[in-house]
Amino acid sequence: MTETMKTSNRSDAEFPAIVAGEGDLPSYLSEHKPRIDALLQKSGAVLFRGFDLPGADNFDAAIAAYGEPNFPYAESLSNAVRVNVTDRVFTANEAPPSTSIYLHHEMAQTPIYPSKLFFYCEIAPGKGGATPLCRSDVLLDKLAEQAPDLVAAFAEKGVRYTNVLPPEDDAGSGQGRSWRSMLSVTERESAEARLNDLGYDWQWMEDGSLRMTSPRLDAVRMLPDGRKVFFNQLIAAFRGWSDKRNEASKSVTFGDGTPIMPEDMAAAIQISDALSYDLEWQAGDVALVDNFLVMHGRRPFAGKRRVLASLIL
Ligand code: FE2
Repeated sequence: MTETMKTSNRSDAEFPAIVAGEGDLPSYLSEHKPRIDALLQKSGAVLFRGFDLPGADNFDAAIAAYGEPNFPYAESLSNAVRVNVTDRVFTANEAPPSTSIYLHHEMAQTPIYPSKLFFYCEIAPGKGGATPLCRSDVLLDKLAEQAPDLVAAFAEKGVRYTNVLPPEDDAGSGQGRSWRSMLSVTERESAEARLNDLGYDWQWMEDGSLRMTSPRLDAVRMLPDGRKVFFNQLIAAFRGWSDKRNEASKSVTFGDGTPIMPEDMAAAIQISDALSYDLEWQAGDVALVDNFLVMHGRRPFAGKRRVLASLIL
């Protein structure tokens, strides 16, 4: 087995790290975990290519072999509609192929988020469908050079997110998870109790939808090794949080309720586009992504594409 790094001038480390191998991925992951974790720490994303991984059950076995605890989707406050394939594995997002899912840190718009993500390509897309990856620390550094006051405001004030959730799942939207599913409740009273515990504000809409606003969450985060990251959902919210219930520009404010202007976000969006690496999937590929260090998204696609995901606590 060989380990190679994709040379890139997008960050100080090669990104993503590529482990080219053959044979059984579960055995490789259990035998080489310290080396994989070192690559992940340095690069933020590791692509395993060329291993023998015929289906979701093998992917599940590979995740189990890696040996870290599962982050259960059912208990998360993710707003994407997902379908479980095995205990730990689910479809990455049920949003239609033409929908772009913009760069984000998984569930950074909620107080509960996974530390890492596994992706597995079961069926490579015919056209499009790459997973863009972007180093969040590099993005923040470049943004701080261009707009130091803005970065200081994000760091100081944090951010609040507002979503309107339907009463039943709406798979036609990238953020169509129902409030019943998200909060693991059936009745309004239990929804309110859960929101209260989590520090959310809320409002019931006439059509049975629920408008909920998060407590102040950090928009900039310092990692244990001192790297600072743009750990938030702002890019995805500004570019993509619009459907028949949500308007992107009203979905986010600073933590003190003051508005974030689209022109403020333009620089971050432009830098993130320039930094993105498009992971063009091949069937059997597995990617491990550090959710604190790297943002991910999904390009639109045509034809069949099946990318499964799993989250680590
Ligand atoms: Fe995601």
